[in-house]
Amino acid sequence: MSKILVLYYSRTGNTEKMADAIAEGARSAGNVEVELNYHVEAEELDKFDAVLVGAPTYHHDMPMDTKTLFEEAAVKGISLKGKVGGAFGSYGWSGEAPKLVLEIMKNKFEMQVTEPPLLANYVPDQNMLDKCRDLGKRVSESLIHAA
Ligand SMILES: Cc1cc2nc3c(=O)[nH]c(=O)nc-3n(C[C@H](O)[C@H](O)[C@H](O)COP(=O)(O)O)c2cc1C
Repeated sequence: MSKILVLYYSRTGNTEKMADAIAEGARSAGNVEVELNYHVEAEELDKFDAVLVGAPTYHHDMPMDTKTLFEEAAVKGISLKGKVGGAFGSYGWSGEAPKLVLEIMKNKFEMQVTEPPLLANYVPDQNMLDKCRDLGKRVSESLIHAA
């Protein structure tokens, strides 16, 4: 069975709401295993077919936890090549983090990224949560069809 990781960092719960909706959408497609988590070790990334990363923007950057995970994966030579990648996150005024995440997924890890990233301005509204559910569902369906 295909496996999807929805990994997020969230300090005030906004990106967490997006992550919950993405996981819900991914589960609704049926035959996939979805793990919703705020921390994984770099070595664990290997077991997933898709990795969707939630990164709110703080100080024009992605969270340190997210950066550390990518650093560790790079240093340890963990291959993510060909896995599906996606990024999302809440922001206030500039929203760089999800774009930076996708850039690293694409250029460093050679993942197949789903663009554009999903960005919610502060608290995600119903329309944004629908988009999150849809993203999760689309990623699940693409894995089911590819299997
Ligand atoms: C100290 C601090 C720095 C921030 N820096 C940025 C920033 O550089 N760009 C931006 O778009 N939003 C910035 N924000 C706004 C957050 O991205 C926003 O509050 C977001 O909803 C937080 O998501 P979270 O609840 O998932 O942690 C900042 C917020 C704080 C408290």
